[in-house]
Amino acid sequence: MSTDPLLQPYQLKHLTLRNRILITSHEPAYPEDGMPKDRYRAYHVERAKAGVALTMTAGSASVSRDSPPVFNNILAWKDEVVGHMKKLADECHDEGCAVMIQLTHLGRRTRWDKGDWLPVVSPGYEREPAHRAFPKKMEDWDIARIIEDYGDAAERMKAAGLDGIELEAYGHLMDQFFSPLTNDLDAPYGGDLDNRMRFAFDVLREIRRRCGEEFLVGVRYSGDECLPGGFGKAEGLAMSQKLKDSGLVDFLNVVRGHIDTDPGLTDVIPIQGMRNAPHLDFAGEIRAATNFPTFHAAKIPDVATARHAIASGKLDMVGMTRAHMADPHLVRKIVEGREDDIRPCVGANYCLDRIYQGGMALCLHNPSTGREIEMPHAIEKAPEARRVTVVGAGPAGLEAARVAAERGHIVTVLEAADQPGGQIRLTARQERRREMISIVAWRFEQCEKLGVSFRFNTFAEMHDVLATEPDEVIVATGGLPHTEVLGAGNELVVSAWDILSGDVAPGRTVLVYDDAGDHAGLMAADMIAETGASVEIVTPDRSFAPEVMAMNLVPYMRNLQKRDTTFTVTWRLAEVQCEGNGLRAVLGSDYGAFSRERQVDQVVVNHGTRPLDELYFELKPLSRNLGEVDYEALSTGGVQAVEANPEGRFRLYRIGDAVASRNTHAAIYDGLRLARGL
Ligand SMILES: Cc1cc2nc3c(=O)[nH]c(=O)nc-3n(C[C@H](O)[C@H](O)[C@H](O)COP(=O)(O)O)c2cc1C
Ligand code: SF4
Repeated sequence: MSTDPLLQPYQLKHLTLRNRILITSHEPAYPEDGMPKDRYRAYHVERAKAGVALTMTAGSASVSRDSPPVFNNILAWKDEVVGHMKKLADECHDEGCAVMIQLTHLGRRTRWDKGDWLPVVSPGYEREPAHRAFPKKMEDWDIARIIEDYGDAAERMKAAGLDGIELEAYGHLMDQFFSPLTNDLDAPYGGDLDNRMRFAFDVLREIRRRCGEEFLVGVRYSGDECLPGGFGKAEGLAMSQKLKDSGLVDFLNVVRGHIDTDPGLTDVIPIQGMRNAPHLDFAGEIRAATNFPTFHAAKIPDVATARHAIASGKLDMVGMTRAHMADPHLVRKIVEGREDDIRPCVGANYCLDRIYQGGMALCLHNPSTGREIEMPHAIEKAPEARRVTVVGAGPAGLEAARVAAERGHIVTVLEAADQPGGQIRLTARQERRREMISIVAWRFEQCEKLGVSFRFNTFAEMHDVLATEPDEVIVATGGLPHTEVLGAGNELVVSAWDILSGDVAPGRTVLVYDDAGDHAGLMAADMIAETGASVEIVTPDRSFAPEVMAMNLVPYMRNLQKRDTTFTVTWRLAEVQCEGNGLRAVLGSDYGAFSRERQVDQVVVNHGTRPLDELYFELKPLSRNLGEVDYEALSTGGVQAVEANPEGRFRLYRIGDAVASRNTHAAIYDGLRLARGL
């Protein structure tokens, strides 16, 4: 019997949870037609199999028609959800994992132009900045029907065999009632705290009436809005006590903060560069004051902090949600004493940002997450060991090397630099993005354990590759910044990478021309502005840095707005000329024959990379497949078997930015799916 505090069972009423780790509710936007089907189920079952005690499925599963999905949420107001949830619950239960679901009405946190185009409702007229809908102020019949909807949805989940439910009450309808900032109603549902909590208690009573005492019910709520005019910690503690005293709930899932804006949401769910476990002590205070089962999650990415959260008695159950997206087998690795093998969550928040912008949650550095069916986490051994040579030890090359070695191949990596990492190493130079280095460090350590042989300081030429006598060659040489985008003056500009690498010192008045719209442009602007320089970020797009996405933008803005920076959208850098000791930048527009000029002393261009593909094209005629990739096999996890040139000596592939300028996920995904098929 283990003495690890994290591995001790926890008794929640009649339910025994096998350890103290839970996955808190998070909608990965995997539903199909609003239902949790195969992809959804596979995602949860993978984590259940590996030992997590409780998976709180969904995230904001909608109880009413007028709470339309904002990120492809589960439609818990439809009866057909029962069959899908039953299958999911049964399969997780078979693996010893408890299953609950988070139910909600989003209130004003959605849009009227979704679903059935019904008006958005809230207990007041204030709109939520993030979703922008001006709500209808609720009437008595709205309140009555939504209470009933909650009861119906809870009953469906009980019928599906779930262990319980959790009600979302931070930023959604339930706490729009709690907060004086959003509740404009008169008594009995507005006014003092008891009145503002009346809706929640009416809902809870309805759920108990329908589902009985045995069905577990919790509330995930903010215990402190951290907003002027909102409810603070004292009121939050009173709310916690009232929830406990009501006898209607079985656990509290504590959150701190507000989510009505991107910065607010990012403080509730911190991303890389922000403090770990920032709200753990607060959750611990609520637990101490109420002496009631307390769950909590907010950037507790590592096992040591999670263990501390339990051992110190701050929490009963610790949420490791993104940590489980990065490594679904986290609990198994703890149990097996293999904590060093856990693929660390680096807080990149690609997962969460993508549910709004990219359609479904994907982990920046675990491409199997969300693709459990077509790209399983477990890697099978190849029928025979072959010699695989990888050129380049950036994220794509390292992933290909790792996976090829897992397949049992004999792998050699040739890398021009003196250490692995490629572009990631540049990114991780910035203190705020330091955690990114774990993407490299984890892969490198795994490769070393698997016996991959690395040759650093080797700028691979054709003969170096041939000397390894490869069966398979993977060119993962990345790309170099491409800045030649101007009508004139290309020689006068520097790249974002020049700034990030420290090769070029920042100027005093700088124009950053960012038409890639990814992290590199903002990182360079951030570094330059930090020196006290005046920085103007110019983009031809209608919003800046579209690839960075909502929550990732927050730390940049917090840095940039406190410094001398401006943003100019919809202008395209046309040319740069020398003028005196400085430069004249001429801006043009896609919208008409307009122009503007700027006097600066430095122009930085961020326009993605061009592939470093010389070696690939040299090797191509010698290869059996002439570089051709079977896209069907690549996309479905099949075996690469193109024979375009039977005389060839090896098969040749290129991956990542050596093909085209993309992002870290794309590079790693290339590496994974190619190497799986070798
Ligand atoms: C893709 C994604 C979707 C999420 N959706 C929800 C949601 O619908 N409801 C909710 O209460 N929390 C949601 N969360 C927040 C998580 O439950 C959790 O609080 C957060 O990720 C912080 O915990 P962690 O640092 O362990 O990941 C979401 C998180 C992610 C990554
Ligand atoms: S995308 Fe980033 S934050 Fe999200 S799970 Fe993966 S590593 Fe963690």
